[in-house]
Amino acid sequence: MTAAVARRAERRLAPARGVLATRVTDLLTGTAELTVAGALPARIAGARRADATLTRIASRAAAATALGDGLTALLSGLTVVAAALVGAQAVVDGRLSGVAMAVVVLTPLAAFEAVLGLPPAVQYRQRVRRSAERVYEVLDAPEPVREPERPRTAPASPFPLVVTGLTARHEGQHRDALAGLDLTLEKGRRIAVVGPSGSGKTTLAQVMLRFLDAGAGTYTLGGTDAYALDGDDVRRLVGLCAQDAHLFDSSVRENLLLARRDATEGDLRDALARARLLNWVDGLPDGLDTLIGEHGARLSGGQRQRLALARALVADFPVLVLDEPAEHLDLPTADALTADLLAATEGRTTLLITHRLAGLEAVDEVIVLADGRAVQRGAYAELAAVNGPLREMVGRETEDGLLVGAVAR
Ligand SMILES: Nc1ncnc2c1ncn2[C@@H]1O[C@H](COP(=O)(O)OP(=O)(O)OP(=O)(O)O)[C@@H](O)[C@H]1O
Ligand SMILES: [Mg+2]
Repeated sequence: MTAAVARRAERRLAPARGVLATRVTDLLTGTAELTVAGALPARIAGARRADATLTRIASRAAAATALGDGLTALLSGLTVVAAALVGAQAVVDGRLSGVAMAVVVLTPLAAFEAVLGLPPAVQYRQRVRRSAERVYEVLDAPEPVREPERPRTAPASPFPLVVTGLTARHEGQHRDALAGLDLTLEKGRRIAVVGPSGSGKTTLAQVMLRFLDAGAGTYTLGGTDAYALDGDDVRRLVGLCAQDAHLFDSSVRENLLLARRDATEGDLRDALARARLLNWVDGLPDGLDTLIGEHGARLSGGQRQRLALARALVADFPVLVLDEPAEHLDLPTADALTADLLAATEGRTTLLITHRLAGLEAVDEVIVLADGRAVQRGAYAELAAVNGPLREMVGRETEDGLLVGAVAR
């Protein structure tokens, strides 16, 4: 009976808890955006509704528990009373001694003790079954990336890193985000990848780090198929400084040490200097031990990206993929950042994904992506000298620059 009453409530309890947790987390992390958009009251009301739903379900579950407990107590009480009546009658008739009557009365009580745990057990079973279903949903989800069953030993050096005819598609998309890309990175070579938003730049970084499976084409590191290697081994050879790199709510030092635990003070300072953050850090009252806040909230957008760069430099990956942020930065800051990224990666094998063209004369090859294809490639000076996609981008960038200059005046 308890099972019948509890089934519905228990089935809905775990999902309702999940909904409430999601609503509250969203509300807390997005408070600033919601306030600006004036959507805060509606979201708070949504969280309240989720809370009310959970309360309703929880009280139904509690009612089922209470019903089970009550029924058990009632049944055992009635049985004891009935046994007492029968026993008393038997004592009066002389069929039973007084001491034996105590046994007759207490036996049902002892018997009920044995089954007392059954109603809550039924209820817990339903609760656990529903929770287990939610865990299985996660466990049974398809692996986002295929890992080889028997990974090959990683090559000592990733050079040359060769990508040929690479295609990749994100889940649920009808179009390839990368459609037949070739590139070769020899030791010390730097390639810049440019192109409009959505052209597949970040997708390329994801494939190179084995965060996303390629559809067709090959990807080899030092002659070894990257798909025959363990993903973590690939990521020791090819490192990423992501477009939206995560910073931890900790000190500058801890954020850097994450890349390499045994890095010395000198290594950290050297990386900060190359990311052009050292003067700023030295000017802080706590220096390297300054706390940077949640997601680096106490830093400017440019400083955040520089700290992420410094972290990637501390890690000292043989191949570094740098995905420069598109947003948050004004044009002069973006240009300064690109210039510093170029300076910091000099002599290092780098794939630099960038939105700004200033300074790209310094790299060995520029690849212009559009809709996942390389529509133009070569040395910057060559590409800028002929009519084509890069020249158009340079034109637009100059216009933007003039516009910013005019506004500043
Ligand atoms: N996680 C994802 N799920 C589904 N589609 C995605 C995902 N990430 C990217 N895409 C799609 O893949 C295409 C390429 O996106 P990508 O992020 O590589 O562009 P991008 O060149 O890095 O752009 P940006 O300059 O804005 O960073 C786009 O059409 C995008 O909508
Ligand atoms: Mg991107």
